[in-house]
Amino acid sequence: MREGTLPCLRFEELTERNVQDAVRVCNSSLRYDSFKASTIRRVTFQDPNIEAGLAILAYEGEEPLGVAIGCRRTKQPPELVDPTAGWIKVLAGIAGKEIDELGVLNSICEKVENELSRLGAKNVRVSDMASWHVWPGIDLRYETILEVLEDRGYSKVGEAVDYLVNLRTFDIPRRIAKIRESLCQRGVSITLAEKDECDIISGWVKARFGPCWAFEVATSFKNNEPGTIIAKDRNTGDIIGFSTHGSLEPNWFGPIGVEEKHRKSGLGSVMLFETLRLMKLKGVSEAVIPWTSHLFFYTQVPGIVGIRHYHTMSKRLG
Ligand SMILES: CC(C)(COP(=O)(O)OP(=O)(O)OC[C@H]1O[C@@H](n2cnc3c(N)ncnc32)[C@H](O)[C@@H]1OP(=O)(O)O)[C@@H](O)C(=O)NCCC(=O)NCCS
Repeated sequence: MREGTLPCLRFEELTERNVQDAVRVCNSSLRYDSFKASTIRRVTFQDPNIEAGLAILAYEGEEPLGVAIGCRRTKQPPELVDPTAGWIKVLAGIAGKEIDELGVLNSICEKVENELSRLGAKNVRVSDMASWHVWPGIDLRYETILEVLEDRGYSKVGEAVDYLVNLRTFDIPRRIAKIRESLCQRGVSITLAEKDECDIISGWVKARFGPCWAFEVATSFKNNEPGTIIAKDRNTGDIIGFSTHGSLEPNWFGPIGVEEKHRKSGLGSVMLFETLRLMKLKGVSEAVIPWTSHLFFYTQVPGIVGIRHYHTMSKRLG
């Protein structure tokens, strides 16, 4: 469906004034998600890469029917800036009186693609814009969205899962407590990071795991209570691993990483469980372990109540 063939739709830029309309559309069309205004704000107004014209709502009369949040990586992190790379981070549509869901999705998708193209994007991905993302791709159960994207020429370029973990009955298994004890005897300390360790830890993370994870770790230090666990070799004082939570969303686990030569000795598992315990103690009842392909590292967690499977979609523009 071409733009212009749908006179019933009009587009508005997303602003603070209509953000609740965006929340409403997302929650009525994306049934496996629960959008809050804070999430919409995080991936739009609070994204330093924000540009005018890329986050839009579609209306039929006064009724909001569609949302598309586009973006280019123009500012942050500086190491990854590429003005030719575009994303659609969120895409949602519901049927109106004169138009069906497919029509809304198609129309709003086309609008954002045109804007991205006009700004200089050569490629567009849905929806893995790391650190300012909602999902790593499209949940396979959102069949209409995938259908629209495929019809528009997108193809799958990656996949990932989220684990959903019930923390209400969460406890640390004896197996993990024993590994922790043996690591401790071997000179490994595992503690909650202090506020003044933010720069040193995010620097360490950046050097090993890249600028996006460093940003997420640094963001976790802005919360009232610290959100990063740190493992050190007590003999040298060197950092050997970290695990973060609550950085992008209050109930999100991660990222987590262990220095390569210290892997496969249980340190990652201990930090994973310690972090989930911290989340439970803060009152998180259901945690999300988002965007991973480490299937068996996470299946050891008790209380997994759901797995979301995403396909990252992409196409060339123009
Ligand atoms: C993922 C990571 C943190 C794991 O750290 P680690 O210290 O090696 O973790 P552990 O030693 O506790 O567990 C390692 C392996 O043991 C396996 N394992 C854990 N518990 C187990 C159990 N009870 N029985 C059998 N195997 C088990 C896990 O499957 C895991 O396998 P995998 O690494 O192939 O997925 C580490 O590999 C890493 O830093 N990777 C790079 C960063 C990264 O990808 N982070 C995760 C992003 S989602």
